Amino acid sequence: MERFEKIGESALAELKKVADKAGLEEFRIKYLGRKGEVTQMLSQIGQFAAEQRRDAGQLANKVKKEVTAAFEQLKSSIESQRAKPKELVDVTLPGKSPNIGRPHIITQTVNELLEIFGRMGFTVAYGPEVENEWHNFVALNIGLEHPARDPLDNFYIDDTTLLRTQTSTIQIRVMEQGKPPIRVVAPGRVYRPDTVDATHMFMFHQLEALVVDEGVTMVDMKTTIDQFIHTFFGRDTRWRFRPSFFPFTEPSAEIDLLWIDKSGKEDWIEMGGCGMVDPNVLDAVKIDSEKYTGWAFGFGIERLAMRKFGITDIRLLFENDLRFLSQF
Ligand code: DAH
Repeated sequence: MERFEKIGESALAELKKVADKAGLEEFRIKYLGRKGEVTQMLSQIGQFAAEQRRDAGQLANKVKKEVTAAFEQLKSSIESQRAKPKELVDVTLPGKSPNIGRPHIITQTVNELLEIFGRMGFTVAYGPEVENEWHNFVALNIGLEHPARDPLDNFYIDDTTLLRTQTSTIQIRVMEQGKPPIRVVAPGRVYRPDTVDATHMFMFHQLEALVVDEGVTMVDMKTTIDQFIHTFFGRDTRWRFRPSFFPFTEPSAEIDLLWIDKSGKEDWIEMGGCGMVDPNVLDAVKIDSEKYTGWAFGFGIERLAMRKFGITDIRLLFENDLRFLSQF
């Protein structure tokens, strides 16, 4: 009979640790099932001496009642808990918007550039990234003696094929395919075996422009660049021409932007090159250089984006770290 009491005590103690449906079922099998310890007590009554059977029977029934009642109570409380929703939905909270991504900052910048030049009447041209020497050098008046032709300064694929080093190649392709008047911009990737650092990459983007028509002068070029810079960077941005040399333009200039950083420090930053199309280039594509004149420029797109958004390391643009990219 002492053992019966122990079974009852340990069953009630164990029941306190049950917290879920699986635990309930385990408990039921162990104590209240057909071979359960509590159920078994009743079939052991016959083994008691005759005079003890009554007490033993009463005790066994009492233990069974207590354990069963406690079990049923816990069972219904666990079941009613499960019926309650785990989480209440607060319909007044703002919803979760799906993460659908966005264009890369360079793509965004290209799109903006094309938009600005589109408004000024420019169409868009593209060219291949794998080029021949004719389009990359020869037709652009870049002779064999020019340092830019050094094989070590280019990604050659075979003796005469290379990854283009400038989008000026597209000037040649456009002029080979169409007659003046020409008014195009051409964005694209270019490749140079530069050592990578904060301002250099082996691949970057340029925006080329080419205008060829009768009576085109430097005034047209300067006005267009002025309009572009003020639209892209803001009306107060100052810029200047700096005399320079490119084999495919005469005269040539570099375009510098006056940059004033947060501390007020002023700096002239080179953004691109430009000039009046060299008559040799028009001759190479069989456009009458006595009748037509033209101008061209090439801007570095990373530089434009970095200046506009205050990015100081070009590598950030291509590491594909979303923590950085999703800011733009
Ligand atoms: N292609 C030149 C470069 O990559 C940039 C350039 C200079 C483009 C003058 C032009 C130009 O169209 O007229 O350094």
